[in-house]
This record gives sequence, structure tokens and C-alpha cells, in this order.
Amino acid sequence: MKIHILALGAAVIHLGTVTSALPDAQPPSHYPKNRPHGCDCYTVSGPDPGYFQHYKFWDFRAVDLRRHAHPNMSGPVQDNDEDWDNVAPGDHHYGTDPNPNSLVFYKTAFERDWSSQNWKRDGSFISPVVMVNSKSNVFFTRDHERQDPHATYLVMRTTRFSNYTSAAEIETRLRDIYRCSLRVRLRFLPTNFIVSEPAQSQEWPPNNPKRHPRPPPNDHPITVPDGKPSPGACAGIFTYHDLTTESDIEILTRDPSHRVHYANQPDYDFAADEEIPGASTIADLPVPWTNWSTHRLDWQADMSRWFVDGQIQDARSYGVPELQSMIVLNLWSDGGLWTGDMGIGDSVYLGVEYIELAYNRSSDVSRGLYGPFSENHGGHQNVLSADDDDGLEADGKGMCKPGRQGRECRRKKWKKRPRRGFCRRPCNIDEFS
Ligand SMILES: *[C@@H]1O[C@H](CO)[C@@H](O)[C@H](O)[C@H]1NC(C)=O
Ligand SMILES: *[C@@H]1O[C@H](CO)[C@@H](O)[C@H](O)[C@H]1NC(C)=O
Ligand SMILES: *[C@@H]1O[C@H](CO)[C@@H](O)[C@H](O)[C@H]1NC(C)=O
Ligand SMILES: *[C@@H]1O[C@H](CO)[C@@H](O)[C@H](O)[C@H]1NC(C)=O
Repeated sequence: MKIHILALGAAVIHLGTVTSALPDAQPPSHYPKNRPHGCDCYTVSGPDPGYFQHYKFWDFRAVDLRRHAHPNMSGPVQDNDEDWDNVAPGDHHYGTDPNPNSLVFYKTAFERDWSSQNWKRDGSFISPVVMVNSKSNVFFTRDHERQDPHATYLVMRTTRFSNYTSAAEIETRLRDIYRCSLRVRLRFLPTNFIVSEPAQSQEWPPNNPKRHPRPPPNDHPITVPDGKPSPGACAGIFTYHDLTTESDIEILTRDPSHRVHYANQPDYDFAADEEIPGASTIADLPVPWTNWSTHRLDWQADMSRWFVDGQIQDARSYGVPELQSMIVLNLWSDGGLWTGDMGIGDSVYLGVEYIELAYNRSSDVSRGLYGPFSENHGGHQNVLSADDDDGLEADGKGMCKPGRQGRECRRKKWKKRPRRGFCRRPCNIDEFS
């Protein structure tokens, strides 16, 4: 909790600096997200406010690239309730570039909660192009469109080389998320939009470059609006347990720029070679995905819902995941029927301003805090259970004696305070901004 306060303090100070230095700066929407303290649980807007025990907000809109350049990553991997700490105290190691314009994700403290992927998938009959996930394809860049020298966002990049596609993926280190409300504010960068990016290492140039070589890193950006990115790439935002327990938002760059795909997997019956009715939806959104918009997936008991900018787009009861999962964001292409293929030398870039997650964990249950899942159906439960006052020096009404005599009783009672399905101070995360 201390870390959280530090991070929030830094954000507030930062905003103060920006607004006083640049009064005309155009802030992005929901900036910053002010979150109240002391929330017991988190609810969401929409038909089912649910409630979730945990909340995290990874904000990529003002990442201090200089400060993050060499964080101390030898600390323990974060696997608890703490809020994401921007940079832990003592992590300040400066890079050689005093003011970098881009920085790979895996060298930042965000890598404590997310892991950028580094693996290869060979080509096959249904996915003919070799795909290599590379950590260098996930990075922060300065947001040169905003008149704010501190503005940044996250970029995922995929590039088609002559004999493979270089792709990008990040996964939460938490694998036991059990129901959540996930929001990702994103945009595909228009073609010819030049971003400051880390070098492609040995991968560039491709064997058979079709287009002009990429400018050197940290070049000045030029914006050409409205250009749809190259076809052949797929952005995925999803919960994942295995191929049959997965809830998806997918965007294909070969589609019209208002179209997205929603599905609970499996959505295809390979034996019958047909789509499973009710598993997937093609939605045409009010905002093109070349504009910033907030994509949201709610995974609740017996229902999945999808939203864009707070407007519900779809709801499905088919195939709602029932197993603990991780969250994955990726940008990929394998030359198969689903993604299509990219032109050799083409790159597609996905910008991400933030990821927001209200969630439960299945380990909450195994830690014995809440009882088995079956007890949780039907929502709020009785605050007091029969065994709450076991062994306490309490009077007949469960009250501790006043004064010193009751001190130990009160301490035990506080430690044993009922938490089962109990939420005294719910906070609606859609009212944070
Ligand atoms: C990095 O963190 C570890 C564990 O927190 C600590 O022992 C070590 O001294 C730190 N290294 C530096 C260079 O600060
Ligand atoms: C692509 O081809 C180059 C040159 O032949 C080779 O070095 C490289 O390993 C190949 N990459 C993959 C992923 O097959
Ligand atoms: C998309 O962004 C452009 C440029 O900022 C803006 O003019 C347009 O109104 C946006 N479209 C929608 C549907 O929000
Ligand atoms: C999250 O966990 C709490 C506590 O067990 C439970 O009451 C609540 O219904 C869960 N939320 C969802 C969406 O399952």
C-alpha cells in the first residue's frame, strides 16, 4: 500500500508540472485516473456491477523513460495485491541516453506484472508462416501528437520478414484470474505514422525489403492520418486458460476499420468444419480502431460482455470461461486464413495507453477467505458466519469486554473479521476518472 501511495504521489506531481508548464496541452481522456483509497471491492458500470476483490491500473501515458531505463529487476516477481509500483525506491539507474524517445517494455518495472514473450512457432499447414515473438516488439514511445514532453504510450509491433513474421505478446504473470473486467485503451497506428522505436536488432533489414528501410531509432515523427495499416495482422486481447477456455477481443487489419470480433473459445468445430453457433460475433463499432478507444471485456458468472467506450456491443452466455486464466495482449500474423499474410517488409503497430483490470483470483478461495465458488453464486452473503467468535473472550452477544480486559479479544476479532463475500466500501471503477 505504501508503494501505491508513492506512485500516485508521483503521478499527481507530474500532472502539476505538465499543466503549469504547458497550459494548452491537450490531455487524453480519463487523464489521470484518480482512484479513491480504502476500497474493499470494485464494481463496474453496465447491466451487472458484479464485484471484484482486486484492481490494477497500468498507465502507459506518462512513463518516465529515463527513470525506467535500467530498473533493478532482481527483486521478487510481484504476485500479490499491491498496486503496481511505478519504480520501486532504489531502482533509479540511468541509461546512457539521457533522454530516450523509446524504451523496451521488458526493461521496465511493468515487466514485474507482465511478461513479454520470446518464443517461436513453426509454420504448419494452417499457419504457413513461421512466427517469432520478440521482446523487442513491445516498447514505450513518446507521444509526439500531444504537446506534452512527458506523454508516452505502449507500442506493440509486428513485422513481416522474408521467411517469418516477428510478433509481440505480453501476458500477466498472474495465472489465477477468475472473472474480471478488463479494459484496454488502444489504437492501431496509421500506416506511414513514424514512431520512435528501439532497433529491430538483427532482424532488420529483411532479406527482401519491399519498402524503404525504417528510419533510425529516435527519428522525428511525421503523422499521416487516416491510413489504414497493412492487412494481415491480428491484435488479440483475451483471457486464456487453454484453447477451449478463452474469451477474446480480436481485431484484424484486413477488416474494415470499424470491425472487431468477439468470441468465447472454442468458436469453431474442426470435426464438423463449421463455426459454433452463438460462440462469436462480428461487431461494427462507432469508432474506427485507428482512433483511440477503450475496449472492454467483462467476464462474469455465466455471462461475457463486450463494450467500447462504455457502450455495450455484445453479450454471450455460451462458453463463458470457468477456469482460472491469465490476461494476454498480442499482435501477430502467421499467414493463415484467420490473420492473412502481411507484405514482406510491412510493419503494423498497435498503440496502448493503458490497461485496467478489476478481478478476482481463484487463490482467494484456496486461501480460505471466501469459501468455495459455489457459495459465491448469488453474490453478497451474510456478513457474520457462525464460527466468527470461536474462542474469543466475548459476551453472549459477541461483544468484547471494554478496556484492557477486552483488548486481546478485540485484536483476535479484528484478525478474524469476516471477509467472506463481504464488501463494505465498493468503488465503481468507472467513476474513478
Ligand atoms: C536490487 O534489488 C535487490 C533486491 O531488492 C537488492 O538486494 C540489490 O542491492 C539491488 N541492486 C541495486 C544495484 O540496487
Ligand atoms: C530466415 O532466413 C535467414 C537467412 O537464411 C536465417 O538466418 C534465419 O534463421 C531465418 N529465420 C527463421 C525464423 O527461419
Ligand atoms: C477519429 O479521430 C479523428 C481525428 O482525431 C476525428 O476527427 C474523428 O472525429 C474521430 N472519429 C470518431 C468516430 O471518434
Ligand atoms: C468475486 O469474489 C467475491 C468474493 O468471493 C464474490 O462475492 C464475487 O461475486 C466475485 N465476483 C465475480 C464476478 O464472480
